[in-house]
Amino acid sequence: MKLVYYKKKLLNICNWFALSIACCVMTPVSVFSQDCPQPRNIKSAPETYLKMTSPLKSSPNDISEGRDLYMEMTESLACVHCHGPKGDGKGELGIDIEPPPRNFTCAETMKTISDGQMFWVMKSGSPNQLMPGYGGLADEALWKIISFVRTFAK
Ligand code: HEC
Repeated sequence: MKLVYYKKKLLNICNWFALSIACCVMTPVSVFSQDCPQPRNIKSAPETYLKMTSPLKSSPNDISEGRDLYMEMTESLACVHCHGPKGDGKGELGIDIEPPPRNFTCAETMKTISDGQMFWVMKSGSPNQLMPGYGGLADEALWKIISFVRTFAK
């Protein structure tokens, strides 16, 4: 009887040990491979958009107006709820979304996304990836948000 008890206990300890090792190994792997560089599921913008570059000089004023829209726009769901206050894609809604929102702090991924690609994605959205469209905003407002978004990877 006693022996069975000890065997069980030993088995429990072994399981616990195996589980903690698995967690230690797997957590960093999944966190790093998902976060940066980050896989992009959104398709490429039409050629006319891809070639566009921002008409703004990204002055401190543009960036600060872009920040206000990103953080607290009320016309539509503000970007911050998904892409997060730090731009890492971990907003309170972002953490539950699959695929996860873009991590704007990852320079390696962000440098592959042109101004025109961002502009198109924000204008039209990408329903398959739960990225909403912001076509209701003026073009200038979208470019200001882009100026701000670019600051996360600098
Ligand atoms: C409801 C959540 C949500 C909100 C709100 C949201 N996004 Fe996204 N966004 C996503 C998801 C999900 C993706 C898809 C990532 C992928 O490609 O796998 C994404 C992708 C992007 C991309 C990457 C495009 C590409 O081609 O890789 C950009 C840029 C972007 N969002 C900008 C914004 C901006 C700016 C706002 C606010 C104006 C915003 N998003 C609001 C969820 C959101």
